[in-house]
Amino acid sequence: MALSLKRLFKKKEKQERKILRLIERTGDVLQPEYHRPTPECPHPERWSMYDSMTAEIEVLEFLRCLVTTIKPELIVETGTFSGISTLWIAEGLRHNGRGKIITCEFDPVVHANARQRIANSGLAEWIECHNESSLEMKISGQIDILFSDSEQSIREQEVRRFLPQVNPNGLILIHDASSHQKTVREAALRLDAEGLISVLLLPTPRGLVVAQKRAGRK
Ligand SMILES: C[S@@+](CC[C@H](N)C(=O)[O-])C[C@H]1O[C@@H](n2cnc3c(N)ncnc32)[C@H](O)[C@@H]1O
Repeated sequence: MALSLKRLFKKKEKQERKILRLIERTGDVLQPEYHRPTPECPHPERWSMYDSMTAEIEVLEFLRCLVTTIKPELIVETGTFSGISTLWIAEGLRHNGRGKIITCEFDPVVHANARQRIANSGLAEWIECHNESSLEMKISGQIDILFSDSEQSIREQEVRRFLPQVNPNGLILIHDASSHQKTVREAALRLDAEGLISVLLLPTPRGLVVAQKRAGRK
């Protein structure tokens, strides 16, 4: 009884911190993707992942390849988590020999952990790592790639907030847009229907929106 009351009143540990503790014990372990099949992606197990927070390995490869393909000057990422997607993107920047990624994480414990990984990576010179909310972070200049990967319920707000600064020749990427995770998919389709962005829905296990701003497109 005492035990169940203790459990009941114990503050629930955030999923992000739980996963970080697991990574501390086991290191980054590659495993088959285990998010549930969707009509657009019926075989998620054909993809790989480190953990359920970090983007799928194939998506990380895609991000790095986009960076070497369009050679952005400025990338903004929301949701650093353990810093893995930031590092894959930074690898692309290092290959290009120019550009920078600004990433933000609002949880101070998670941010400190990512900072450490970035400091040990040899890629720190390409990265600015902020401990703040994406809804407060101020960016100066034009954003060539916006990668929205924070809390799913605020992705739409993030895109609306940064849209005026997005380069019309650049890209907007929004993760977790599968048909199972309706919030992000519906938000992206709403922004598309309003004529703000034009959206492609990539059929990956967790879904990835690749979009471009409509205003200023020639
Ligand atoms: C899905 S994880 C990011 C995964 C990471 N981009 C990767 O693929 O390696 C989402 C992260 O966003 C953080 N987060 C949630 N809301 C945020 C906000 N408003 N601003 C910044 N970070 C936020 C969470 O604490 C969590 O660590």
